[in-house]
Amino acid sequence: DWTMAAYREQKIADIRQQVGDGKVICGLSGGVDSSVAAILIHEAIGEQLTCVFVDHGLLRLNERAQVETMFRDHYNIPLVVVDAEERFLGGLAGEADPEKKRKFIGKTFIDVFEEEAKRIGGADFLAQGTLYPDVIESVSFTGGPSVTIKSHHNVGGLPERMNMQLVEPLRELFKDEVRDLGRELGLPDIFVGRHPFPGPGLAIRIPGEVTKDKCDILRKADAVYLEEIRNAGLYDAIWQAFAVLLPVRTVGVMGDYRTYDYVCGLRAVTSVDGMTADVYPFDSAFLSRVATRIVNEVQGINRVVYDYTSKPPGTIEWE
Ligand code: XMP
Repeated sequence: DWTMAAYREQKIADIRQQVGDGKVICGLSGGVDSSVAAILIHEAIGEQLTCVFVDHGLLRLNERAQVETMFRDHYNIPLVVVDAEERFLGGLAGEADPEKKRKFIGKTFIDVFEEEAKRIGGADFLAQGTLYPDVIESVSFTGGPSVTIKSHHNVGGLPERMNMQLVEPLRELFKDEVRDLGRELGLPDIFVGRHPFPGPGLAIRIPGEVTKDKCDILRKADAVYLEEIRNAGLYDAIWQAFAVLLPVRTVGVMGDYRTYDYVCGLRAVTSVDGMTADVYPFDSAFLSRVATRIVNEVQGINRVVYDYTSKPPGTIEWE
C-alpha cells in the first residue's frame, strides 16, 4: 500500500537512476515546492546538486535569511545566494505596466540563473518543483479561447537553451501531498504550511512603479499583518494573506500633524487551488487591530483598507 515513506524511497531511486553521476542545478524560491524537490534530490544525490536562490530584492521581511538558515544549518545543503537586488530594481525603475514588470522579472531571473549555472561549470539537469496541477494546466484545452490573464513566471526555455534535462520529482503530487512529503523529509512546519508566494514577489503587490523605498514600506506592513494572523491562529485557515502598497497617497492626522502617506491594502483569501478564491471574513476587531498597528508602526502608511473582492472577478494578486 501507498505511503509517503514509500514514495520518498521510490523517488530517491528514480532520481539516482535518471541523474547517474550528472550535475543538477535547482532554483529555490523559498516556497514549499522547490524546497521539497531540493531536499529530496539532495537526499538522492548529495553534492551533485547545487541550489541557487536569487534574491531579487522583492522578497518578504527576513525571507532570505530563513531560506539560508534552513538549507545551510538545518539540512547542510550547500546554497548559492545571488544578491541581485540592484539589477532587478534598476531594471524595474520607471516601469508601471504589470505585464512588462512580470516579463522583465521572469527574463532577468533566467539570465541570473543561467550565469550561476555557468559559474559552477554548467549542469546536466535542471530540478523543478513542478506539481501535478501544473502539468495539467500546461496542457492546452480544446474548444475554448486561450486567454492569458497573467503571464506566470517560470524558467521556461532555459532547459533547451542550456541543453539540460528536467528532474521533476513532484510531478505526480498535489499540493497537500507535497506538504506531507515535506513533513516526511523533516521540513519544519513553518515551511510546510507556507502560503504560496508569486515569483515576481512584491513587484506585483506594488501597483505601478516599484522602488526600494516602497518595497521596504510594504515589507514592514506585510510582516505586521502576518504576525497578527499567526497570533490569532488564523494562518492555516487562509490560502494566502498579504499586504499591498497602493500608489496613492491620502491625507491623515497623527497627533498634531497632518500626514500625507500611502494607502496599504490587505488581502486574505481561502482557496483550494488558487483558481477561484473567497475573501477571508476577518472580524472587525481583528482588522482594526492590524490597521492601527500598521499606521502606528510603519512610516509611510497612514491608511489601511481591506479588499473584499472574490476571485473571479478579482484576481488574488493586485497585478
Ligand atoms: P492570481 O493573482 O492570478 O493568482 O489570482 C493565482 C495564484 O498564482 C500566484 N501568482 C503567481 N505566481 N508568478 C507566480 O509564480 C506569477 O507571476 C504569479 N501571479 C500570480 C498568486 O500568488 C496566487 O497564488
